[in-house]
Order: sequence, then C-alpha cells, then structure tokens
Amino acid sequence: MRRRSFLAMGGATGVAVAMSQIPDARAAVAAVAHPAAAVADPAAGSANATLRGLAAKIGLRVGTAVIPQDLNTPAWTAILAEQFSVVTPGNAMKWGPVEPQQGVFDWSDADTLVSFAEAHGQLVRGHTLLWHNQLPTWLTTGVANGTISKSQLMSLLEQHIFTEVGRYKGRIWQWDVANEFFLDANPSGINPNDFWVSNLGAGIIPQAFKWAHQADPHALLFYNDYNIAGEDGTNAKSDAVYAWLRQMLDQGVPINGVGNQGHLDTQFGFSGIRMTSDLQRYGALGLKVAITEADVRTFVNNATDQVPTDNLAVFAQPYEFSQMMLAALAVPEVISFTVWGFVDADSWVPGFFTGEGYATIYDVNAQPKLAFYNLLEDLQIAAFGAPRRVHTPGAF
Ligand code: XIL
Repeated sequence: MRRRSFLAMGGATGVAVAMSQIPDARAAVAAVAHPAAAVADPAAGSANATLRGLAAKIGLRVGTAVIPQDLNTPAWTAILAEQFSVVTPGNAMKWGPVEPQQGVFDWSDADTLVSFAEAHGQLVRGHTLLWHNQLPTWLTTGVANGTISKSQLMSLLEQHIFTEVGRYKGRIWQWDVANEFFLDANPSGINPNDFWVSNLGAGIIPQAFKWAHQADPHALLFYNDYNIAGEDGTNAKSDAVYAWLRQMLDQGVPINGVGNQGHLDTQFGFSGIRMTSDLQRYGALGLKVAITEADVRTFVNNATDQVPTDNLAVFAQPYEFSQMMLAALAVPEVISFTVWGFVDADSWVPGFFTGEGYATIYDVNAQPKLAFYNLLEDLQIAAFGAPRRVHTPGAF
C-alpha cells in the first residue's frame, strides 16, 4: 500500500516528489544542494568545481561512455565537455558497427566521438576489439555455416585489429583489447563456450594483445570484465582473472591494465573494501587499473521517469558509486574512473534489465543526482584534503 502510493506520487516530478516523502532524503539533498559552495576549488579559486577538474589534481581521469545522441542534445553535450576528461565510445568502435558488411567500413560515429574528445581536451578509451557481442552478422553467420573457416576467422580478426587500432594510432589512451571472457561461476575461468575461445582456443586472447601492441605500441592495452573486484560475493571471478593476468605477464604478453566494469545493482551485496583490495592486488602485478563502465541500477517505476520503487535505493545508489570511487582513490594504479553514460535518459540499463533504471549520476532531465554530488565531494577531499579546523581559544 505504502509502495503503491509512493509510485503513484512519482511520475513526471520524479525523484523530487519521491524525496519529499522522505524527510531524511530531503535533508541529505539540501546538504549538497549548493555543490559549488560545498566543493569550491581553493587552488583554482573557482566556485565551479567539476569532476574532471578535481580529479586532475591527483592525476585521475573521470570518464563516460558516449553515444552520438549525446552530441545532438546541447544540454548533454555541455555536461559531457565540462565534467569528463576521458570518453569511451559506447558502441561506435565495436566490430559490428564499424564493419557492417564485409570490407565495407563505417567509421563515422567513431570519428565524430574521437574528434569531439580531442576538441575538448579529453582522452579516449577504445572499446573493444575482442568480444563475443556486437559482432557483424556476416562474421557470425559465416562461421556458423562454415563459409568462414577457423584459419580465415583468425586472419579476419588480425586484419580487424590492425585496421581499427591502426586507424586511431596515437589517438587512443587505453584500448579494451579483450572483453568479458571469464565465467560467472565458482570457481571461475575462461569460458570455453565463448565464441572466440570455442573457435580459436584461449590462446587467441594473448594473440589479440600482441597484434594490438604491434598496431599501436604506445596505447595502454586492457583486459576488461565485470564483477572482477569482488562483486560476485565469493571473489571467484577476481581470483581467476588475477591468476590469468599473472600468467600472461609471466609469458611476456603486452597487457598494461585491467578494467573492472563496475556495473552494480542495489539488490545485490557489494563491498567497497573488497573492491579496494582487489584493485590493489591488480596494481601490485604492475598493471594499470581502471573502472571502465560504472553504473548502479535499481528497480524503478517505469523506464521513462525512472523513479526508484524502494525509498532506500535513493541512498544505496549514490553510496555504491561513492564506494567505487573511494576504492579507486585508494589505489594509485587506478588511472581512470569511467561511468557508463551519465544521464539516466540514455543509459543502457532500462533496455537490458527489466524494471530497472536510475543507474547513472544525472536524472532523466539531466539534473545531477546525489551520486554526482557524492563523487564530487569524494574528489574534493581527494584533491585538497579536508579543510583545517577553525581555531578555537584554548585549543592547541
Ligand atoms: C552496451 C551498450 O551500452 C548498449 O548500447 C549496447 O546495446 C550493448 O552494449 N559491457 C560492455 C559494454 O562491455 O560494451 C556494454 O555496452 C555493456 C556491458
């Protein structure tokens, strides 16, 4: 009954209405309602602290996934330019979009996003070269019906990597070379049924890193996956990825970094402490580390308004974002913290997770949410420390 009336109150006014039902939530928002005052940048003397500006003070890049639509919506483009210092094409560099027909390339979206980034002082994370999803249909069909042999598949992949990495040579900071190869199981391990592994064997993964390194020796090459910083509860997936990375490094495979996607859901448990120690041990291997696709989803009233159906989700969602940021801040090898889209209105979550949304740091109307302010506060403390206490008589 309570939940039903809460939902009924939602609608167009969204979180503002939902929050007014919760006195504590209103107080929490009021406390951060003047972010500029709360997180003024003393060094720059500016009242307009931004995620990218604060992060720059400690050499961290804050990023977002971008889709072409972001550049067609002026309010979104302004946020994109102002708040972020690294961007990841959300889809535009995947094999399906870039080579829709064999030998027919479409680089238009990728080129547009890379040019936008360069014009706004942003670096680019290339995403992704070797993945089982969003492959061209001609490729998967050809493999399935036998018109593409295994050795042809191997040389098509080699060609794909040299073509794409070569095209953007010198313009990509980090490449997600390989994406999502490990099983969600305990124990975990490389998925034998993965498209690439089942066709070409697990050795195709290090081979892809070698090709990418030849094509652009200066790009940082990443292995990227989800739930590899303890999000599975058992840490099994992290253990498996850690062991594999160590083995690859021992064999001299040119892997420079590991990306933890950071797709969280408030319905599951999550330990920021565990995340910190997992990121630390990746760093101790000599790898760079990145949070590559952070978002925190929760159940919502509908995909348009995305009002959380549980009052406490309004707190759990920013808490989990902040925990991820604190884990990233604690580990000096973490060089970037990327959110997977910044506006709820263009998040992938409602389309992929039935009944869920509210996953980003700006609401459906592109207004900053608690999660945005919490990240800003975390970065403020990271950049400048807490301000020294005021002097009081009698204290020493
Ligand atoms: C998602 C995109 O955001 C969607 O637009 C697309 O339809 C499917 O892929 N892990 C990844 C990303 O590595 O590439 C995925 O991006 C989200 C999960």
